[in-house]
Amino acid sequence: MLDLLAAQKAAEKAARAAGEEIRRHIGNPEQTLEKSSPHDLVTEVDKRCQGIIESILLEAYPKSQLLGEEAVGAGRDAAIQAVKEADSSFLWVVDPIDGTLNFIRGIPFCTVSIGLVYEGKAVLGVIYDPMRDEMFSGIEGQSVTLNGKPVWVSDVDDVFAAVLSSGFPTGDYRGKNAEQIRRFGSHARNVRAMGSAALHLAYVAAGRLDAFWENDLNAWDLLAGAVLVQTAGGRVSDEDGSAYSLSTRHVVATNGKIHEQILADLRID
Ligand code: IPD
Ligand code: CA
Ligand code: CA
Repeated sequence: MLDLLAAQKAAEKAARAAGEEIRRHIGNPEQTLEKSSPHDLVTEVDKRCQGIIESILLEAYPKSQLLGEEAVGAGRDAAIQAVKEADSSFLWVVDPIDGTLNFIRGIPFCTVSIGLVYEGKAVLGVIYDPMRDEMFSGIEGQSVTLNGKPVWVSDVDDVFAAVLSSGFPTGDYRGKNAEQIRRFGSHARNVRAMGSAALHLAYVAAGRLDAFWENDLNAWDLLAGAVLVQTAGGRVSDEDGSAYSLSTRHVVATNGKIHEQILADLRID
């Protein structure tokens, strides 16, 4: 049996260590490269942060494996293939910097996202915001904490009163997503797009936002946040309503109360 509390501590330690590196270099990232498109960037610091996380987690758990963005080739096909090939018996799923464009431009919205799949089940999520020193952390079936204090999803039950969030994906789904933002922008309380999927998910779990959706995200953008939202009382699904899994890409994560309304509104063409 895995000691989940110990695994959570290890993930938090790794997230803090990477966060230290992010704080040191934000706005000054050394070399920046384009990946799959001009919207998809990577820096030396992303790679270094993944290395830091990997060495802490694999040293603590030599039998575990790590699926991290920076070890996977660019683009959707490589990401889908990597998830298919991953051994989900003891798998860390890591985005070393979620919000790389913000990181490059010195916009203080970027996070470290570390999730754990154990015996095929998503069991643990840690999302760290190094710029505000906020640690969102949760074990499936237990509770979610923000800097050690319990948090829950909001109880807003109507999209008209809801603060939603989304993003501008790096590939072909950018147009679809922008159209959905336009649509919700006209009737929800408001929509935020802060440039880090993991930060949005952490905020849904903590009740700061009522929902997050985005098309064509990768496993490392979503796993930790999905555990947090579900554990904090919310619901996470694919846009077709099917349950969240490691291969979900078109994600809808809400406080649960507005989930069906969001799914229905996303479907209108
Ligand atoms: C990106 C961020 C962004 C989202 C993009 C992601 P990255 O991740 O989560 O908010 O809109 O779709 O690719 O590239 O900064 O790790
Ligand atoms: Ca990401
Ligand atoms: Ca990233």
